[in-house]
Amino acid sequence: MARLKLGILISGRGSNLQSLIDATANVDYPAEIALVISNVAGAQGLIRARTAGLPHATIEHRRNGGRAGFEAALQAALEAAGVELVCLAGFMRLLSEPFVTRWAGRMINVHPSLLPAFKGLKAHERVLEAGVKMTGCTVHFVVPEMDSGPIVAQAAVPVLAGDNADRLAARVLAAEHRLYPVAVRLLADGRARLVGGRVEIDEAGPSGLALLNPSDGAGLML
Ligand code: GRF
Repeated sequence: MARLKLGILISGRGSNLQSLIDATANVDYPAEIALVISNVAGAQGLIRARTAGLPHATIEHRRNGGRAGFEAALQAALEAAGVELVCLAGFMRLLSEPFVTRWAGRMINVHPSLLPAFKGLKAHERVLEAGVKMTGCTVHFVVPEMDSGPIVAQAAVPVLAGDNADRLAARVLAAEHRLYPVAVRLLADGRARLVGGRVEIDEAGPSGLALLNPSDGAGLML
């Protein structure tokens, strides 16, 4: 069966990109990376793409005639590569409503909190400030309002005594690396579908679980 073609958009380190590179390296995984685009020249994630032998490009937001030009260049590159699902992975630009609408139901993002709590930047700092005992990460569809689209999958990560933002971020990031490939697999398999603004997941897997909790030691996978 044809594998779903992914376009990965990054701005920096690209560790979530790496988790998708590793997942897609398995020929049985139902998706493949057709293109990696960075809006920042020299981003570490571009080196990861090059090392993996993947098509990659830099499309800088400043050099393409403002947001409209930037997004037109993105669109052209994604189309030329035959991308079917766009995965934002540490992509630090807000995308315009027309662009997001064009990719409605075909663009996802990973965010380092249990949405709808702690949208936006500095989520871990705000988690610690609020004193919540559980946080995590979310893969969700992208809609024009930031960090607000239908949720595909989440992983829970406990906040521990003595945590600071860096320690917490590292544990949440490890959860992101497990969650993102799971979420992409669910979508690529057609087991997760958008229905009436929410994502429904078939309970067809061996575990039948729609929640991934990598921190519980049991390694529950969908
Ligand atoms: C991740 O924490 C992701 O949730 C957020 O930005 C970070 C990107 O990290 N959107 P990386 O570039 O994937 O290493």
